[in-house]
Amino acid sequence: VTADQFRIALTACQHWEQGYFSAYADLVHKAPDLVLQVGDYIYEKSFGGGPDVRHFSGSDPVTLANYRARHALYKTDPHLQAAHAAAAWLAAPDDHEVENDYAGTHSALSESEAFLRRRANAYQAYLEHMPISLTRLTPGGVRFHGKVDIGDLARLYLLDTRQYRSPQPGAPEGRARGAVVPRAEADQSEGRSMLGAVQEAWLTGELACPQPPWTILAQQTLFAPLALQRPEGEMIWSDMWDGYPAAREAVLKALGGEAIQRALILSGDVHSFWRNDILHKGRHIANEIVTSCLASRNAPAALFATAEADNPHVKYLDNAHAGYTLAEFDRHGARISFRAVRNLTDPESEVFELHVAEIEGPGKPGKPIAREGMPFDD
Ligand SMILES: [Fe+2]
Repeated sequence: VTADQFRIALTACQHWEQGYFSAYADLVHKAPDLVLQVGDYIYEKSFGGGPDVRHFSGSDPVTLANYRARHALYKTDPHLQAAHAAAAWLAAPDDHEVENDYAGTHSALSESEAFLRRRANAYQAYLEHMPISLTRLTPGGVRFHGKVDIGDLARLYLLDTRQYRSPQPGAPEGRARGAVVPRAEADQSEGRSMLGAVQEAWLTGELACPQPPWTILAQQTLFAPLALQRPEGEMIWSDMWDGYPAAREAVLKALGGEAIQRALILSGDVHSFWRNDILHKGRHIANEIVTSCLASRNAPAALFATAEADNPHVKYLDNAHAGYTLAEFDRHGARISFRAVRNLTDPESEVFELHVAEIEGPGKPGKPIAREGMPFDD
């Protein structure tokens, strides 16, 4: 199988109450080959704090029945329906498909036993409503991670940074918590995993094998380091990869290996558009593209106000628009288009090109790669 060109629409974070899904109308018009949804497909809760365009009814889902109802509500959106009809999808959940900022088996809100029942209900409803095989349901959870070859052009690894992770640094004993914490606190607590041992070993083993021209990691949250300089010193957001420096180092080491021709990391979660240089031991080893929320409010302005000035590897940041990202690849390069929604409160809003990032490709034909079995396998 060969492919000369491929187009991925990257989406994340669609809050039913906070905005209409007009970005999907533009996505359908652009006719991508694949829609890649990297989390917060549904939200389990309301946030208030701004103009909402429509409302959830009832209380936050906990049971299987009310997670199913939440998914069913989302599936009534005509733009979302059209997007599902328009292209193949790959999707893996982040936290809001279950509960805000959970970490593996730990909840910010409840004891683990009650939380694990809630998580099982949420995962089952997600599987039932998404184009994911029910055979991925396992006794302890769901295997969301996997890989797919895009002809001989690219290999895409879809990761799960939520189901197997350790609690964030600084979280109370036995609980999860996302917070701004000192960098030193994250760096000191070793042994915390982001992918879990099994997924991490699978990924690092994979990345040591011969790769096509593009190696793409699709995953949920900001991968690049992000220093938040505050009067009290350098802080980080503990729920992102910054909270798990040893786990990130393992991925960086693998991505810097000889098998990789060009690496691209596709991320979501932070409700803003980014392009980041990913460096390892002073060497540029990958680009990170972060898509904004498809239909949610942006991150608090103060959180990222000095992010570009304090982090020279951040090459682009927009925290003022929702939308999605259209990534077009060929052997010579990738054209990344950040597509922004003009007005989230208009169900038929205009969507416009906010920014384009051109990324150089390896420029040489990839070696043929043997492919057998399922198109999306472990
Ligand atoms: Fe989100």
